[in-house]
Amino acid sequence: MKFDVVFQNGTLVTATETIDADLGISGEKITAIGQNLPKEGAKIINARGKYLLPGGIDAHTHMEFPFMATTSADDFESGTTAAACGGITTIIDFALQKSGETLEQTAKAWRKKADGKVVIDYGLHMIIRDLNDRVLAEMKEMIGQGITSFKLFMTYRKEGLLLDDGAIFRVMEEAAQHHGLIGLHCENNDLIECLMSRYLKEGRKEPKYFARSKPPVVEGEAVHRAIRLAEYSGCPMYVVHMSTEMGAETICEAQHSHLPVYAETCPHYLVFTDDVYNRPDGANFVMSPPIKKREDQEALWKGLAKGEIKTVGSDHCCFTSEQKKLGKEDFTKIPNGVAGTELIIPVLYHFGVSKNRITLNQMVQASSYNPARLFGLYPKKGTLAVGSDADIVVFDPEKEIRLTRENLHSKIDHSIYEAHTVKGYPVMTFSRGKLVQENGKFTGEKGHGKYQVRNPFKESEGKQLLAPALV
Ligand code: URP
Ligand code: ZN
Ligand code: ZN
Repeated sequence: MKFDVVFQNGTLVTATETIDADLGISGEKITAIGQNLPKEGAKIINARGKYLLPGGIDAHTHMEFPFMATTSADDFESGTTAAACGGITTIIDFALQKSGETLEQTAKAWRKKADGKVVIDYGLHMIIRDLNDRVLAEMKEMIGQGITSFKLFMTYRKEGLLLDDGAIFRVMEEAAQHHGLIGLHCENNDLIECLMSRYLKEGRKEPKYFARSKPPVVEGEAVHRAIRLAEYSGCPMYVVHMSTEMGAETICEAQHSHLPVYAETCPHYLVFTDDVYNRPDGANFVMSPPIKKREDQEALWKGLAKGEIKTVGSDHCCFTSEQKKLGKEDFTKIPNGVAGTELIIPVLYHFGVSKNRITLNQMVQASSYNPARLFGLYPKKGTLAVGSDADIVVFDPEKEIRLTRENLHSKIDHSIYEAHTVKGYPVMTFSRGKLVQENGKFTGEKGHGKYQVRNPFKESEGKQLLAPALV
């Protein structure tokens, strides 16, 4: 057998295994894993001392996202370039339905923005913000086209995104019939509005009052309510960007009752605590839900270690310092969101694996295998196996990088991680066999990424998610 590329001397890490073996790729696929693979005519990559990981799947990005009187700064080219440089080989971006639009129109509009620009593969979730009978009927068609997951907002009423509980229930019922997965942004809108208007009346307009308007109960109550609605409708659900211990406990209870309830957290909740909102650049840390306390952060790490939190997605929705100034006089107007797609794997390794909070295999579960299973991409993606796409990361556990703006690839002018140096970093990224990043330099090309038609959610996929592995 002949290969285009052979990786030698590396350690292959999947969701369950860590083995020393050669890996061969031909064209866009992994075609062999074994000892002493033939090397004639192949490009040889000596991966001694390095890990080979399946490419990361960031199931939560917002590229070119029109939001809060502006649009997120990374377009599909710059955003996927940043992702590739951090070892991500697939993103799943959120297509946002405009008011009055059909889901078909939204999907087309999002494909038009992304195709030809993406440097790595991508899929789409659909945000439903304007529900009617026609939209409900279209959900089945969307699932058939590979958009198998839908995001609903329990907050952002003023931004025109909130769906009330009745509408959420109707969408869930429809998803349950056609094997869709419902993602929920869980925050109690009424409580947020009550606290925000109280602070504004008192003249408290700085970023720290944004965080204080969204205490843990805001998320905890909404996660609980969402689970009850999902249980009643018989629908599988996924809590996006979970930030609290209360949320994690509620998820864990639901899982113990054998409900198909899954959760994601994000790199920023695993690194920072809410004292960042006292900093002069506090606005740069404004995202929803906001960053919470040390105990919440520890609960999220524990949730990952126990397999209760299944995935880490970035919620990459970044804004420049200039855009953040839209809320200079009023914290409710700061565009919500931060960069992070480039840092999922480095954060999980440096703050997780190196600190014995999670194992290397659990890092792969959260960053690749579990999102592939939940979002209908497995086994094409999410593992290192013969027949899978050659989406491969060469990870150097010794490489140190300071996470300054200059060392990162997003378009924005700042990095919230500036003060942090991490040890362990992706030094090569292959997307379907093509080298797209080497030593921090982007080597890919615009338009290389392909749209991924994802498979419908099956409960059996949820069951394949790894059972709790204790560290
Ligand atoms: O602050 C955030 N998370 N911005 C993006 C929109 C969302 O809610 O995911
Ligand atoms: Zn959200
Ligand atoms: Zn988001």
